[in-house]
Amino acid sequence: MNLTPIVAGNWKMHKTPSEGASFIELTKNLLLDIEHVSVIFAPPFTGLFDLNVKPPFYSAAQNCHWEQTGAFTGEISVSMIRDCGAEFVIIGHSERRHVFGESDEWINRKVKAVLAGNMKPILCIGELLNQREAGQTELVLKSQLEQGLAGVEALENIVIAYEPVWAIGTGVTANANQVESAHSSVRNILKELYPESDTIHVLYGGSVKSGNAEELIQIPGVNGFLIGGASLDVESFASITRTVETVQLRTL
Ligand code: 13P
Repeated sequence: MNLTPIVAGNWKMHKTPSEGASFIELTKNLLLDIEHVSVIFAPPFTGLFDLNVKPPFYSAAQNCHWEQTGAFTGEISVSMIRDCGAEFVIIGHSERRHVFGESDEWINRKVKAVLAGNMKPILCIGELLNQREAGQTELVLKSQLEQGLAGVEALENIVIAYEPVWAIGTGVTANANQVESAHSSVRNILKELYPESDTIHVLYGGSVKSGNAEELIQIPGVNGFLIGGASLDVESFASITRTVETVQLRTL
């Protein structure tokens, strides 16, 4: 199945609302003719309100709480995010898992809350370096997928992002074999859980930049990218998107 690839920029804790809004305008101007890539901007919560995006551009939050409202100081609910005009929510990013201690159980609650709120979760999974070195990569991916998706009936509105933790923000990109093998594991695990899983996107994330985007996007099973550092710069984010569009056009 030839899915429209996704290029998503996870800004993490960067850019004020006004910096973010002007970044988005500049990026859109550089990508006026893009038709075969969905481009997602994920600013911090403060930058989400009333962004001027329409397809093929979308916005995403980087996290959410699973409750709708309540005494949860410092948290943001799915309906608040949706009201800002966002369509996606990143869930289970490795920084949420490993810096803020989010468990698979919390991640699962969040995935279900996002779906219940008619939004689309981008569920992040990925192994630590010591888990890879111990030969546990597939085991970790299986466990994160099974637990993260527990109780989820259909995959149609879900995006999966494979982000090996050791490749995030390190400049070390997983090599083509590692990416292909991890994506193929993800597909096999999903297929066992959901027969219709061919139709969902599995993104790669981890030190994606304009210099490696062309090679990475052609790896079988890679349906786009979740980008950190290189998504903060207009030229590099636009250039990665354009590379993905060019490669996609060749396949049509
Ligand atoms: P880098 O692209 O900076 O490695 O970050 C990847 C990431 O964490 C995207 O969510």
